[in-house]
Amino acid sequence: MNEAIRSSSSRSCPKRWLALLLALLLALSAGCGEGKAEEEKTLRLGLALYDQQDTFISSLGREVEQLAQEETRRITVRIVDGQGNQSTQNDQIDQMIQSGYDVLFVNLVDRTVAASIIDRAREAGIPVVFFNRQPVGEDMRRWERVYYVGLEAAQSGRLQAEIVKEAWDRGEADRNGDGKLQYVLLEGEPGHQDALLRSEHSVKHLEELGIPTQKLSSAAANWSRSQGQQQMEGWLDRFGGEIELILANNDDMALGALDACRDRGLEELPLAVGVDATGEALAAMAQGTLTGTVLNDGAGMARSMMDLALALDRGEDPAQTMELEEGHYIWLSYRKVTEKDVEDYLRQQEEEG
Ligand code: GAL
Ligand code: CA
Repeated sequence: MNEAIRSSSSRSCPKRWLALLLALLLALSAGCGEGKAEEEKTLRLGLALYDQQDTFISSLGREVEQLAQEETRRITVRIVDGQGNQSTQNDQIDQMIQSGYDVLFVNLVDRTVAASIIDRAREAGIPVVFFNRQPVGEDMRRWERVYYVGLEAAQSGRLQAEIVKEAWDRGEADRNGDGKLQYVLLEGEPGHQDALLRSEHSVKHLEELGIPTQKLSSAAANWSRSQGQQQMEGWLDRFGGEIELILANNDDMALGALDACRDRGLEELPLAVGVDATGEALAAMAQGTLTGTVLNDGAGMARSMMDLALALDRGEDPAQTMELEEGHYIWLSYRKVTEKDVEDYLRQQEEEG
């Protein structure tokens, strides 16, 4: 009996092991399958920012994160900060390509070097959505799965001129009464499409609107509030109260210039116009220091970027559902913000939290 039991148990042993092994294999493969299915459900987005210190860009990053959280499907967003250094950004992008991110959102440090990034992404089959810092057209055509989301910079310059025209018509601009508008121009980063085109078209459109202008000086202040302030300090030394308008390629530089005026204790501030409609700019408008700004639609950009990523991930051609120019470009519009509508914008911003 004992013998029989022993023998039967010893006979059943290989079978049991086999069954166990089989069960284990099944469990393992089921586990793997589950893991894979889960992975497929998560859309992994890599978001490379040229410099997270930049006010407009860091808020755009937050918009993308927020949209990802609001989507019904699981989306993770990894944000990397290029800190204004292209080789740092290249390393960050390479790393995301190697880790197999599904879509890359790229805000280039140097917008002339998109080609190598596009080629590496193409090899890995990862679509790239550039935004805000526009690659040259030749690079954009290197691969069909390359996109750009942005706004027409020339339009923002023209809208700045319209804001100035309203003040001119109210008789607020020509302080010395010589029939000309004396202005200083604070420019963004040299070579940036928004700096070049805003500078050109704001001034051109002032003339088109019938305002004779006199440029006192211009300088690049690289989108930065402190650099805007420094430039303005120098100009106040040189021109003092002669400055009737501060024309700035963005809000931070306009606010920096106004900081300089405040520090000098200037009684009458020059007109000042920026672009972006940052929270601080809207607050300055409500206080009556900043004359006006132009809304740079970061929320709209984030929405378009997300829609592109979702379409690409579903394997669709985005051109079927979205308005794509030349198969690659999504263009959004700027909007003017003047004292008439600043309260609405402030309320809207508060509601969005
Ligand atoms: C511009 C914006 C600037 C700065 C720049 C960065 O569109 O007006 O404030 O953020 O982009 O590329
Ligand atoms: Ca004048």
